[in-house]
Amino acid sequence: MRRIRIFDTTLRDGEQTPGVNLTPEEKLEIARQLERLGVDIVEAGFPVSSESEFQAVAAIAAELREPAVAALARTERADIERAARALERARQPRIHVFTSGSRIHLQHMLRMSEDEVIERSAESVRLAKRYVDDVEFSAQDAGRSERAFIRRLLEAAIEAGATVVNIPDTVGYTTPEEFGALIRDLRATVRGIERVQVSVHCHDDLGLAVANTLAGLAAGADQAEVTVNGIGERAGNASLEEVVMALRTRRDVLGMDTNVRTQEIMATSLLVRRLTGVPVQPNKAVVGEHAFAHESGIHQDGVLKEPSTYEIMRPEDIGLDANRLVLGKHSGRHAFAVRLAALGYSIPRDEITPLFLRFKELTGRQKRISDRDLIGLVEAWRAEAAARDGSAAAKEGA
Ligand code: KIV
Ligand code: ZN
Repeated sequence: MRRIRIFDTTLRDGEQTPGVNLTPEEKLEIARQLERLGVDIVEAGFPVSSESEFQAVAAIAAELREPAVAALARTERADIERAARALERARQPRIHVFTSGSRIHLQHMLRMSEDEVIERSAESVRLAKRYVDDVEFSAQDAGRSERAFIRRLLEAAIEAGATVVNIPDTVGYTTPEEFGALIRDLRATVRGIERVQVSVHCHDDLGLAVANTLAGLAAGADQAEVTVNGIGERAGNASLEEVVMALRTRRDVLGMDTNVRTQEIMATSLLVRRLTGVPVQPNKAVVGEHAFAHESGIHQDGVLKEPSTYEIMRPEDIGLDANRLVLGKHSGRHAFAVRLAALGYSIPRDEITPLFLRFKELTGRQKRISDRDLIGLVEAWRAEAAARDGSAAAKEGA
């Protein structure tokens, strides 16, 4: 069984989701949950981008114990020095240096020749190595790059001391077969690549991010870069929970697994939804509200007789119904509040009572209340509150 490293970039690429802007305190709260979840690396942010981003990365670096903490930097001295400062108190610091690897990016964005990009990248990795041992190097848009150039670029980065080389499909353009072939080819032909870890980082523009990630891992990559709920730039990144549960559920054919404590998946997903304000579609794999719901009579009958008839994962494996506290009409406010907290909701005191009344209403219609019902209850409550706030603001503005 190969152990795949999970590099979580919810706090960096995930925060690039349109409209998302986390405070340092919110980032720290998510980072703590990522540590509970058991990811191997937390990419905490891009310290040179703002003072608050720097503070967030520094706070996360100072606090996390188990995972490595990574900070992003362009191939610029100022970026690398700022990343190094932010990581000063980290137990396992990693500087993540990135450039671009495709002709389109070189020509229109960097406006540099291939040789200039290679030289600048090697210099940057050497500079980062003065501060930390662990340096990751990424060549953006590798999915659309010229193979000969990407090879030279990676060789230069490895020669300069990179410990991890990341191959991003930045624009979500490749197909699984193509991406797998790219990783296999780079593993076979890049000089020195056997000394470093190979990472994959896939975006979801064509809905292929998870499939491409799995293809890259099957082709020999050691690390998967993912985000909780698949949030991220444009259509997002490969979703952590989907990659992790695919590896866990199909270990039999994939021969790979991770260190993730999957029972923490639901709590992590809910926390990220709440703090980013980005909802999850109901039919989203693994963490969507309907992911374990059975509507048709035939399916319900099958699941009641034996869950594995229609369930390939057990809800409790992702933290749903994990503690078998049965909530029903006899349950009190305390059990109700404790269960909401276990699901990752921190509900203000004054909201517990009206929510509890709704819960009681529900128990009048339904004997047993599942975690999914509770999530539906809170999400509906929040949606109504947001609509009320929106219409009040609109009236004020009118
Ligand atoms: O998508 C991408 O190429 C990135 C890099 C910074 C790794 O996010
Ligand atoms: Zn990305």
